[in-house]
Amino acid sequence: MKKILLATHNRDKAREFQMLLAGLDIEVLTLDAFPQVGELVEDGESLDENALRKARETWRITGLPALADDTGLEVFYLNKAPGVYSARFAGPGATYASNCRKLLAELRGVPPRRRNAQFRCVLALVGWSTEVILAEGVCTGTITESPRGTNGFGYDPLFLPSGCTHTYAEMEDESKNRISHRGKAAREMKALIAKSGILTKS
Ligand code: IMP
Repeated sequence: MKKILLATHNRDKAREFQMLLAGLDIEVLTLDAFPQVGELVEDGESLDENALRKARETWRITGLPALADDTGLEVFYLNKAPGVYSARFAGPGATYASNCRKLLAELRGVPPRRRNAQFRCVLALVGWSTEVILAEGVCTGTITESPRGTNGFGYDPLFLPSGCTHTYAEMEDESKNRISHRGKAAREMKALIAKSGILTKS
């Protein structure tokens, strides 16, 4: 069976990907079994650049087709910040909680109609075929005035997707995956993998 290695040390993302890539005739591996892959640096200036770097580095070290994701939360009132800096928004040693606190502080007093935002996820698959495969998914929504829900990770308690009454963190995994930025990008990636014809060649 063909293999794809998820180029992330983030267990929350890996868990979502395991669900999202189910159904393809592929064994989806995580970095847990590859300690030789150290920290994957994300210091590029765009999501595409970071996703590509992480996938290339993982492929270089392991020789396995590597799938990396880079995600940014773009808040329009903040000129699309934190964007590519979403993981480090609260500075060195930032955590999910400190990033959420900082975001709420930056938006204090901003009314709901001006709290529009979007999650953008870029996926890069390197080493699968001769070409790099890229996919993107966007989910629009608003930033709540206080955290809601305990599921998910990162900014999930603050993100209310458009047309929804529940934040990402108030949804079950399956509901989040159906509408999320990562879900959309993963479905596009699955279609591109299927279209590559490589699965039928084995
Ligand atoms: P990165 O793609 O690992 O750089 O993620 C950037 C930041 O966005 C991290 O702090 C994550 O916590 C956050 N993030 C990424 N994906 C999600 C998501 O699906 N929900 C909430 N936060 C996320």
